[in-house]
Amino acid sequence: MSLQGRDLLSIHDLTCDEVQLIMQTSTKLKELKKRGQEHALLKGKTLGMIFQKSSTRTRVSFEVGMWQLGGMAIFLNDSNSQIGRGEPIKDTARVLSRYVDAIMIRTFSHEAVEELAYFADIPVINGLTDKLHPCQALTDIFTASEYKGDLRGKTMVYIGDGNNMAQSLMFACARVGMNLRLATPDGYDPDNELYQQACKDSQEMGSKIEVLHDIRQAVEGADVLYTDVWASMGQEKEQEIRRQALKDFTIDADLLKLAAKDAIVMHCLPAHRGEEITDEVMECSQSVVFDQAENRLHVQKAIMALLMGGL
Ligand code: CP
Ligand code: NVA
Repeated sequence: MSLQGRDLLSIHDLTCDEVQLIMQTSTKLKELKKRGQEHALLKGKTLGMIFQKSSTRTRVSFEVGMWQLGGMAIFLNDSNSQIGRGEPIKDTARVLSRYVDAIMIRTFSHEAVEELAYFADIPVINGLTDKLHPCQALTDIFTASEYKGDLRGKTMVYIGDGNNMAQSLMFACARVGMNLRLATPDGYDPDNELYQQACKDSQEMGSKIEVLHDIRQAVEGADVLYTDVWASMGQEKEQEIRRQALKDFTIDADLLKLAAKDAIVMHCLPAHRGEEITDEVMECSQSVVFDQAENRLHVQKAIMALLMGGL
């Protein structure tokens, strides 16, 4: 099995075995890093990184990851490249294909990433769109499995906005046989077409993806509680409306008590303490948010090594 030359736009495009390959490779690369053993699998290779939205984790983990793999990464944004001055994405795709070995892009429109991938001759990695954040969700199932072992039959509960994270987790859970309950307020459900697609995907491993509106019922016995911000990047103007709509969708200590005793709490970060999660829960012993953030590095190194032909 090889992922060489492939894009990573959505976890839906990966088979269950390919997801397992990414998980196993992540484990190996994490071990090598912890042992201080060199693993320059992408010596002499370069990654172009296009950012049209802010980032701390994604930028640093991709850039450091490329360095640790023996390659280098180039940071491009609207103000330091021609992208912000309107150079068409299809031209950027073909130009970058002549210089670098893969492109990671974070932008608003998912269709723009699809267009970039269509016109590029090199692997394109989705570093977050309004629709999906696959690198984060792959990291999340990797992190969950470090704590919970085999995820088949285990249950994750996502609380909050049915956004890019919720939508990516549907596909990630489906591929590893994990049940996912999405507890969202009315009007904030994940996209129905994606939901139907993920439900179909989940049949292969026999897990269940459900959208519920009763948060306490959803959390009952959960192995993993997960949340994300109420207003995503690009939704700043809706902040107040969203604060009202989502005000009862906070992970606090009372809610956590309804989950399994050994449940873990996850958040992709950045977190808005006092909104989707309390400071107390963020800082409690069940919270694994910083391990989760660290794992972005290991999992993305695995993704790059596999897609860019280092393995
Ligand atoms: N979780 C995540 O993608 O973080 P950044 O926005 O900091 O990259
Ligand atoms: N849903 C958030 C995720 C940030 C990593 C956003 O899109 O802003």
